[in-house]
Amino acid sequence: MTIAAPTQLDLQKLAKDHLWLHFTRMGGYQTEDVPIIVRGDGCYLEDANGKRYLDALAGLFSVNIGYSFGEEIGQAALDQMRELPFYTNWSYAHPRAIELAAEVASLAPGDLNRVFFCSGGSEAVESAWKLARQYYLARGERGLRGRVEPGARAGALEPEVDHDAIVAAAGSQHRYKAVARHIAYHGTTFGALSINGIPAIRTPFEPLVPEVRHVSNTNRYHRPPDETEEQFTRFLLDELEQTILSMGPETVCLVHMEPVQNGGGAYTPPAGYWQGVREICDGYDILLSADEVITAFGRLGYWFGSERYDIRPDIVTSAKGLSSSHAAIGAVITTDRVMEPFLGQTSMFSHGITFGGHPVMCAIALKNIEIIKRERIVEHVRENEQAFHDTLAQLLELPIVGDLRGVGYFYALELVKDKDTRETFSDEEAERLLRGYLSNALFEAGMICRADDRGDPVIQISPPLVAGQREFDEIVGILGDVLSEAATIMR
Ligand SMILES: Cc1ncc(COP(=O)(O)O)c(C=O)c1O
Repeated sequence: MTIAAPTQLDLQKLAKDHLWLHFTRMGGYQTEDVPIIVRGDGCYLEDANGKRYLDALAGLFSVNIGYSFGEEIGQAALDQMRELPFYTNWSYAHPRAIELAAEVASLAPGDLNRVFFCSGGSEAVESAWKLARQYYLARGERGLRGRVEPGARAGALEPEVDHDAIVAAAGSQHRYKAVARHIAYHGTTFGALSINGIPAIRTPFEPLVPEVRHVSNTNRYHRPPDETEEQFTRFLLDELEQTILSMGPETVCLVHMEPVQNGGGAYTPPAGYWQGVREICDGYDILLSADEVITAFGRLGYWFGSERYDIRPDIVTSAKGLSSSHAAIGAVITTDRVMEPFLGQTSMFSHGITFGGHPVMCAIALKNIEIIKRERIVEHVRENEQAFHDTLAQLLELPIVGDLRGVGYFYALELVKDKDTRETFSDEEAERLLRGYLSNALFEAGMICRADDRGDPVIQISPPLVAGQREFDEIVGILGDVLSEAATIMR
């Protein structure tokens, strides 16, 4: 008898008895085995049965340097543990937080210069909205909010709660509302969840934080076929401006969007979109926040997606790639202009988190950035993105693959019922396709990627940024087989 077998059985039992997985239908694991991943190297993972998988999702769009730098990063963590295992950013600084803030500021584009650390992406989004709310108060705009005519809301896209009455009753009239986009994922804590544009994960927790409106995302695949890119951009910008007007522009503090939206599958912006969003935000004096939790630290072939699209945000939220998920650390990055009202003798941003700027997390993030620079990983993405795109484009020959979209190392394939009409699957069909077949089939075939139907059904592909042609070919080989079979099953 070997030792490995009983250990593995013990792990299965303990997982079933005690571990509650996130966003997971746990009922399925009463009969099925819980997938247990035990180690990784490069772009590959190994499960408790010794089976290997190509991780075409980089953990959760986040292990940018892959799985082979654990020892080097572990040494940096150990050194920091020996020197100072914890100290706080509440009122105090320490060397690693200072160094990391300076390093992130130097990498961030334009005038982004101030860094507030937190523990992950949701907290970063939460912090960004709170920062925006308090920014206008700190600037002395209390009481500026005007009344919104009821009629102005008639064309609004979402059902109304009378937040004005709530806010008026609380006696605090100021800019507090946010605008985000449909199907966008921004995290799960209450503020971040409220900004989320995915109804299925919002509705169980309503009422949410007032008040967020969602505008169209940049999914062009289902727009009228004769619409030009310029017309599409105009449509999106008009809708954004109308939405802000209907909310009362003087009540809106934040527009929060990803450079390339993940939810729905790698929606890239049409030409002129970000310049238009920036102009609208400037016109109504609203802070523009780029959610770069996925896109920062190389995923789009730049340190920040904001650089690729010249977004010029006032705020950037980041997390995953900051440490390549080797640590629980996120950051809100902002400009001197946004920080300025908080620099008075008696003013402060009334927000903090025990683990924000944790020295060990900062040491890990610093080492991660050092590795990204040393290994030329951002350059590697830029040099290989075309090859990656072209390799994936072979899958467009399959009858079930309607669209390939994305940039850098961040792609999605949209699956369709009818390629000519672009007809999508019904909810029941999507359930059968994604959960009934694809997720398991891909895992069985030795590949981890996400089959997602928060918008129309898509396969999301976002490997570690160290992947090269060998991994691109393997991804396409496995997806080719599995999607051909899926097309047959769905016929
Ligand atoms: C764009 C975006 N924002 C925020 C979050 C939330 O990050 P976290 O899961 O670290 O809380 C995510 C997570 O996937 C994300 O993709």
